[in-house]
Amino acid sequence: MPLVTTKEMFEKAYKGGYAIGAFNVNNMEIIQGITEAAKEENAPLILQVSSGARKYANHTYLVKLVEAAIEETGLPIALHLDHGDTFELCKSCIDGGFTSVMIDGSHHSFEDNIALTKQVVEYAHAHGVSVEGELGRLAGIEDAVNVSDKDASYTDPDQVQEFVEKTGVDSLAIAIGTSHGAYKFKPGQKPQLRFDILEEVEKRLPGFPIVLHGASSVIPEYVNIINANGGRMPDAIGIPEDMLRKAASMAVCKINIDSDLRLAMTAAIREHFAQYPEHFDPRQYLSPARANIKSLVKHKLVNVLGCNNKA
Ligand code: G3H
Ligand code: 13P
Ligand code: ZN
Repeated sequence: MPLVTTKEMFEKAYKGGYAIGAFNVNNMEIIQGITEAAKEENAPLILQVSSGARKYANHTYLVKLVEAAIEETGLPIALHLDHGDTFELCKSCIDGGFTSVMIDGSHHSFEDNIALTKQVVEYAHAHGVSVEGELGRLAGIEDAVNVSDKDASYTDPDQVQEFVEKTGVDSLAIAIGTSHGAYKFKPGQKPQLRFDILEEVEKRLPGFPIVLHGASSVIPEYVNIINANGGRMPDAIGIPEDMLRKAASMAVCKINIDSDLRLAMTAAIREHFAQYPEHFDPRQYLSPARANIKSLVKHKLVNVLGCNNKA
């Protein structure tokens, strides 16, 4: 099976009241852990690559690894550019075999965001590729860009219809209180999401797939293992899983997860070295890291996203 686009995945997810997991990938072990989990759960997948991942691992290596995963699993997998910030980057991924791209114009004015997104949509659609746009601005860290809480802003539901009509995007990322990275809420702060905004967006765009970025739960067990084995992570708080399940039952069809994968991998490696300080073969510590990613992703597919047995 070749790489697929997100179109059919989103149509089924919207109707079925579940979401597709969009997992960030940076190397072979991460791709293997995620795709082995999806195979066992018979789940469709979006594997996404940030510009940082592309710089780290190289475009061709990542595409070939994802193609190998498709050959091994036979699953419907879409390969997506996460947070593309220029037309040139999106074009390069489209030309290089991706089946979906995000153009993140959320740092621009509404008008400039529309113009940039429309330019990407025209090129992408001419090549059979789907496009995700973004309205509203999430707090947190993406690549080298750190958006402070005061610069973050919720999506304005009054703008979504005009944005979608004028750009022709296939899905829309919105800001309802999630944020990137491991420190989403301050210690003592109660995690909250603006479900009222999501409901309003759903009313304005019936049947249209919505995307949630910054959706890691920052699983406390991993942070505890990291800190019990030499790590020094301050209090880290993520999005409660019941909120993600609720979003998945609404218009949210794609849920982005990266930080939880990083924590799962780091926790396994730190725990391994605490137990076997004499080890130096990367296979010895990358095997438990890959296994931990697999069990995390199985948990997300079944208990959070609800997309198991939907491939
Ligand atoms: O939203 C950002 C993703 O977690 C990707 O992170 O840009 O450090 O690869 P990265
Ligand atoms: P997290 O940092 O919450 O995993 O978000 C990842 C993300 O939104 C990637 O685009
Ligand atoms: Zn994101």
